[in-house]
Amino acid sequence: MTPARQLTSPVGQESRFVVPETGERELPWWRNAAIYQIYPRSFADGDGDGVGDLAGLLTRLPYLAELGVDAIWINPWYASPQADAGYDVADYRAIDPLFGSLADAEELIRRAHALGIRVVIDIVPNHTSDQNPWFQAALAAGPGSPERARFWFRPGRGEDGELAPTEWHGFFGGPTWTRITEPDGTPGEWYLHLFAPEQPDFNWDHEDVRAEFESVLRFWFDRGADGFRIDSAALLVKDAALPVQDPDERAFTDLEAVHDVYRSWRRVAESYDGARVLIGEVWLPDAERLARYLRPDEMHTVFNFLYLECAWDAERLRAVIDDTLRFHQEAGAPPTWVLSNHDVDRVVTRYGREDTSFAIYARQHGRPVDLARGSRRARAAALLTQALPGSVYVYQGEELGLWEVEDIPDALRQDPMWERKGRNPADPGRDGCRVPLPWAGSEQPFGFSAPDAHREPWLPQPEAWKEYTVEAQAADAGSMLSLYRSALRLRRVLGDGDIAWLAGTPEGVLAFRRGEGFACVVNLSTESVPLPLAGTVLLASDELRGETDLPPDTAVWLSV
Ligand code: GLC
Repeated sequence: MTPARQLTSPVGQESRFVVPETGERELPWWRNAAIYQIYPRSFADGDGDGVGDLAGLLTRLPYLAELGVDAIWINPWYASPQADAGYDVADYRAIDPLFGSLADAEELIRRAHALGIRVVIDIVPNHTSDQNPWFQAALAAGPGSPERARFWFRPGRGEDGELAPTEWHGFFGGPTWTRITEPDGTPGEWYLHLFAPEQPDFNWDHEDVRAEFESVLRFWFDRGADGFRIDSAALLVKDAALPVQDPDERAFTDLEAVHDVYRSWRRVAESYDGARVLIGEVWLPDAERLARYLRPDEMHTVFNFLYLECAWDAERLRAVIDDTLRFHQEAGAPPTWVLSNHDVDRVVTRYGREDTSFAIYARQHGRPVDLARGSRRARAAALLTQALPGSVYVYQGEELGLWEVEDIPDALRQDPMWERKGRNPADPGRDGCRVPLPWAGSEQPFGFSAPDAHREPWLPQPEAWKEYTVEAQAADAGSMLSLYRSALRLRRVLGDGDIAWLAGTPEGVLAFRRGEGFACVVNLSTESVPLPLAGTVLLASDELRGETDLPPDTAVWLSV
């Protein structure tokens, strides 16, 4: 564990802050929430089958309340064959028996609300499961049928239709079209799937698809959901001309008509009491294009992948932060800050590599990792991230300082990327960030499953995690968990608003104020630096040298 001392107890210090003036007294919760991401199959296992579930999550809600988060976002819990860990939804109105029942989901929402925790769920509109009744009906109904019109069925090219309609590249590797056998047994049409073949894409030009999803939104809003995280949100609408070549992915990324979808979803959200929120998973390299999803009649927020992808480098981080704040201010939407999620390498590992950036197409699996350095930086990054205005995401296990598990035996890998990318050891997929959480005890399953569990965790947990359990860290004031708990409590009073960079700070140092009373200083350089302003240390990511020296890869929060 990274040794650290909490320099001052944050408890009771809140009153020293001058809360930045935001112009709004009561902010809607999502403008500055801390949102904890639950990957349900790896959070807590209540029934002993080695896979996390809602019963397990229910028992751990007090942990989340104590951690100090305002909301949870739960990855897909719907009925699904689990070809892509639930992102292949067979029934958008049912809970997968692996996770529990609809009654469990309703109970979970109720109990979370009772603890003051909002519940955001995942919605997957770009594609469905090949087991979805609509897709099964489309297969059975044959070419030219109204059932097929809800998807992208096309005859193949070539003499016998043996070539796929386009040569687009899929996100999981491999082709984006699969040829079916028609009900009469002949080789037939092809259907489009930007992800795995088990995930056929919907045709969003079709009125049935639009009406169905609005009905699904209502189904869950009626049950108390506080919002939706919208999966693959920029991909829904396709260029119906289906150009054969599409090197820039323009035929299916960020088409103008996709905005109509979110305009109508916003109207649905606003027809409900309370602040119901739409959060987009929009991976676009262009901030101006991204900002268009944040127009006042579309989504409320989007994930900040520009920040997630940024290297541990003061100049680049400052540029991303400035850019983020600028385009969000223009859009009138609050920024979000994300260090990791279920699709990317865990942050301790990323920051422990020589190249600390992340690119979805250029993973660095197997490159040397200095975990001690990665942890130190992840601690500093936590304070930087949580000091910024807007909402912040914490991916389960980030608060425990878990690392990417890179030595999962190949036979146990579950991510469809592993097979689809040809079992590439340099890019084995996303299992390494999805390993079940360690809660307590000194051996697997580390409290993830009940002691009488009949199966091992669905992915093996590193033995070294015995020192990283919630139990071990809760008792250690210097642990990552203690740092997150303190930071999440303190950040509550910071609210929305802007930052002011301090002038004249040395190279490699990020330093800014929030309002009059609060400052955050982060040293990303390789030398210790004197603190650029006087104040009381509220929280430090690691031990300081003396009163005023900030060591490399360390952050402090100051009351000034
Ligand atoms: C999103 C999800 C990812 C999933 C993909 C297909 O990127 O975050 O986990 O595999 O969409 O639904």
